[in-house]
Order: sequence, then structure tokens, then C-alpha cells
Amino acid sequence: MDIKILKEAALKFGTPIYLYDLKIIENQFDKLNKELSVLENYKIHFAAKSLSNISILKFIKNMGAGLDAVSIEEVMIGLKCGFNKDEILYTPNGVSFKEIKEVFKLGVKINLDSIESIKDFVNEFGNQSITVRINPGIYAGGNDNVSVGHSESKFGIPEERIDELLDMEKKGKIMITGLHIHTGSDITKNNQFKEGIKKIFSIARDFKNIESIDLGGGIKIPYYKNDTSTNLNDYVKEISKELKKFELEFKKKLKLIFEPGKFLVSDCGFFITKVNYIKSTKTKDFLQLDSGFNHLLRPTLYGSHHEIINLSNPLGKKKEYDVVGYICEKDTFAEKRKISDTSKGDLLCFKNAGAYGFNMSNNYNSRLKPAEVCIHNNKILKIRETQSLNDLLLGQIDIF
Ligand code: LLP
Repeated sequence: MDIKILKEAALKFGTPIYLYDLKIIENQFDKLNKELSVLENYKIHFAAKSLSNISILKFIKNMGAGLDAVSIEEVMIGLKCGFNKDEILYTPNGVSFKEIKEVFKLGVKINLDSIESIKDFVNEFGNQSITVRINPGIYAGGNDNVSVGHSESKFGIPEERIDELLDMEKKGKIMITGLHIHTGSDITKNNQFKEGIKKIFSIARDFKNIESIDLGGGIKIPYYKNDTSTNLNDYVKEISKELKKFELEFKKKLKLIFEPGKFLVSDCGFFITKVNYIKSTKTKDFLQLDSGFNHLLRPTLYGSHHEIINLSNPLGKKKEYDVVGYICEKDTFAEKRKISDTSKGDLLCFKNAGAYGFNMSNNYNSRLKPAEVCIHNNKILKIRETQSLNDLLLGQIDIF
């Protein structure tokens, strides 16, 4: 990304600001399609939870992707953006049956992740075709918070209860046409992917009506130089191997679904902030930004590393800083980070901020959420206003 454009956006629209380069999303989509093309029958469903600005969703829809939604709100936004009902897969976890019912009535595809919710579903709607999320009992993912496919996790139907599901199907109560797994995000080890793929294809053998397998998200992209990443070629080879075995044995073709979030939109995002002050102590220099973990939560919540560039002095001599926010508790973006010599007022940019950046932002300390802009056809376009005080007060009821 051209530093000039990042600076221009910050000058034009102010800081802090999220900027997304749509070309990068397109390139990532093409790259993934190229790798997956050997599989023939597959569909990419973008994980809306990672970045759900409607302009981004429409752009991604127009590239030909479907949508992975976890809430009725994501479903509604997806429909508003023009995704067809059958291009949205709704995978809730622990939501009320009322919500599941509403989504089903919208005609959107339902992917249930507990025997308990399936029982309610059968009671209400009788024998329907649905897909289900399985917990494969595999620990995979960059940290504990995002590792969701192991046996202690709340997600998916546990392996030991798959027989109950098969029994329901045998009795004609429900028809399972697809299986889904999502073991985690930032899956660093390729053999964890392999384990998941093997497991789900092996479980699929027992499901006579199966038409699709959804392998979820989790593809690891590098966040910094020499960071690990998923070897896509190996990943696809493993899928292809298991798929061929299955198709040969059962004489039927399966459709595959992928639900990338980070792979599609992490790289495209830049979060630009300004240095309010440089506060020096005996031991360190703090860069105090006009932002905090209310805008970019990943470093605080997961200890995630985002590369930081000083846009105002990109080639300056490197110095060590603690980069901190303005929130009223420990609010550290980076400790002992080497950044080009920084002055008050400089623009600092966080890379890889597209996925789970804005979407995890909040109003802690009654701070406003930042604007979002995108670069499309060489133009910088605003796609979300900075919040206003009125937005913060909206919906509050003054009883005095
Ligand atoms: N499918 C399902 C069912 C998911 O729950 C997720 C992410 C994805 C797909 C997309 O995973 P991805 O390709 O983005 O790894 N906030 C965390 C990540 C949480 C992921 C939650 N589920 C972070 O910032 O690292």
C-alpha cells in the first residue's frame, strides 16, 4: 500500500480511521479461488463477523462469494446487501430458538450446532433438510479464545452425541444434508487442518444424505515478517485426497464450502491513528495515540501483533516505544516496539486491521467509533461516518 494514500486519507477524513483497499480483497479472493479450483464444486462464504460494512459485503458479494452468518442481524444485513437466501449459511451458537425460527422462516440455510436445538427444530418444523456443525475434538487455532473445535469447547455437536443425530435421521425426524466444522482461527499448524479434514470426511461416511461439507475458516495469514501462514497448496491437496476417496467409495459428488474471514480481509485493512503525546519516563517512551483498545481490541484481547508504521517518518531511524491508547486501564497496542523515530502529531498505521478490527470496536469510555473508508478504482471513498455524540445517546431513555 502506498504510504501517500494512507496519509491522504488521514488528512482528508481525520484520525483515527479504518481504511480498506478493495483491490487487496479481490486479489485474496482470486488467490483462494486459484488454489481451490481443483475441487470443482465449491463455494466461498465470507465470514461476515470479520468485517461487515455493507459496502464491503456488497463488493464481496459481487465477486461471487456467499456469506457465513452467526446472528440474525448478520443474516438481515446480508440479505439487505443482495446475497440470495441460499447463499447465506446461518451458523448460530447457543442462540434462542425464537431466533433460529425467524431465520428459518426467512428461507436462509440453517446450520445447527447442538442436539438440543435440533430437537426444538424438529418439534416445530418436522422433517427438514439441514446441515449441522460437528465438534471434531481437535485443538487448533492461534490462541485459546479462537480455538473452538476441541472437546472442551461449547461449539458443535460433540462426537459422542453423533449417534443421537444418526438415530434421529434413521427415524425420519430430520435429514442431514451437510456437515460443518470450524476448528479455529489463525490455524498455525497444517497438520491440525489435516486432522480436521480427515475427521469430518470420516464422520461423513455415516450420513447417507450428505451433499456438502463445510470446512469453516481459520486459514492463517502472516501478521508480520517471518510469521507462519497456512500452506494452501497442502491444505487443498489434503481435501482433494479425502474428497476423491469419499466420492469413489460412495459414488456421489460432494459440494465443499469454505468460510474465510481473515484470509479475505485482514491484509486489506489499515488503521490510522495520530500520536497525541510522547510521554517519557525513566525507562520508556510511550507513544500515546488518539485511539485505544476500544477501536482495535486484538492486541489487548489476544496479545496479537499488528505491524505499526510511522507514516509521517517511514524511513526514520528505528527507536523503541511502547504504543498505548487513551483508555482508562492498561491499553497497550505494542510493547518495546521498534518504530521509526516518532514526533508528536505523527500518523501511525496498524497493518492487517481489516479482519476483526472495526467489527470488534466498541464505545468504552464513551468514545466514538471511527469512520471507515475504502480505496476503490483509485478513489478514497467514505463508507461509514465517525460516530457522533447523538449516536451514543440514541436509544437511551432519560427517566429523570
Ligand atoms: N466460520 C465460523 C463458523 C467462524 O466462527 C469463524 C470465525 C470463521 C468461519 C472465520 O474464521 P477466520 O477465517 O477469520 O479465521 N476475533 C478473532 C477471530 C475470531 C474468529 C471467530 N470465528 C481474532 O481477531 O483473531
